Amino acid sequence: MKRGIGKWVASMLAAGLGVFAAQVSAASITGSPHDFSGAGWGSNQVCIFCHAPHNANGGTPLWNHAATVATFTLYSSQTLTTLTMAQPGGVSKLCLSCHDGTVAMDSYATRTGTEKMLGDGMLGTNLSNDHPIGFTYNAALAAADGGLVTPASASLVVANVPLYDAKLECSSCHNVHDNALGGFLRKSNAASALCLSCHTK
Ligand code: HEC
Ligand code: HEC
Ligand code: HEC
Ligand code: HEC
Repeated sequence: MKRGIGKWVASMLAAGLGVFAAQVSAASITGSPHDFSGAGWGSNQVCIFCHAPHNANGGTPLWNHAATVATFTLYSSQTLTTLTMAQPGGVSKLCLSCHDGTVAMDSYATRTGTEKMLGDGMLGTNLSNDHPIGFTYNAALAAADGGLVTPASASLVVANVPLYDAKLECSSCHNVHDNALGGFLRKSNAASALCLSCHTK
């Protein structure tokens, strides 16, 4: 009897692992809206539009895409607890180097491209109608705000919701390499689960 249950558990585990393996293989940039290998932009590689292993364009992580020099209109509101909203830097600036629509997506390495972003993905340089980014989210902010989860550390709010040097960036909510959940989300937003990772509403 005991052995039978053990076998059942083992087979359930195997089934579970099978599902897990399927998720891992789906969790890739390949075939996602960030896979430009078939775009005809001078390379059939996947990573090259954003990273190069040598002689990268400048910046981390081995960044190979031309950078935006736009000045952005930032989010502001009377109820915001954060007082210092600065121009986007770090990882968010990397995203905006395609998503603000000012730099061609095929401007990488020494190449100057022509394909600027259009449509819904183009946030533009006015970020006043987008969730604030590029500011420090720490225990002091959570305490002052009263409606925020206290981040576990300077690199994590809760599981799957990272911070970058204690800052909230585009990549806190999005995983640029993984579209398994759609919208390149870090975490499903069903029942607003992503929002509730940080907001205690
Ligand atoms: C559309 C742009 C883009 C493409 C294409 C891309 N990356 Fe990235 N990658 C980024 C950004 C932005 C970051 C910054 C970190 C973050 O967002 O978490 C990053 C970070 C990284 C990092 C360091 C941090 C981490 O997540 O481990 C590695 C390693 C990496 N990428 C590897 C790759 C490889 C390998 C490919 C190709 C299979 C690839 N990337 C394709 C944008 C891209
Ligand atoms: C090399 C240019 C480039 C970079 C860098 C880049 N993206 Fe994108 N991204 C695109 C393109 C092109 C699309 C497809 C746009 C469309 O379908 O209208 C896209 C689509 C998306 C989408 C929508 C996905 C969907 O399912 O419709 C999200 C979300 C996104 N990107 C987030 C990010 C974030 C966050 C970063 C930085 C961490 C980033 N992107 C960096 C070019 C880029
Ligand atoms: C607080 C979380 C959060 C932050 C921060 C964030 N996003 Fe998003 N973003 C989302 C959610 C949620 C969606 C909707 C995804 C879906 O339903 O497919 C989304 C959608 C998008 C889309 C799809 C087009 C659209 O407008 O719906 C793009 C492109 C995008 N985000 C890029 C970015 C970029 C670039 C940044 C940084 C400047 C950023 N996001 C910051 C949560 C966030
Ligand atoms: C990674 C953590 C995180 C996630 C995920 C997140 N937020 Fe936020 N959000 C914050 C922080 C921190 C602030 C700044 C609060 C402040 O300074 O008062 C903020 C600000 C806001 C504001 C502006 C508040 C004001 O007073 O003007 C709204 C509205 C908001 N978030 C809604 C959302 C929604 C909706 C989602 C889900 C799509 C979401 N947030 C996801 C952390 C997050």
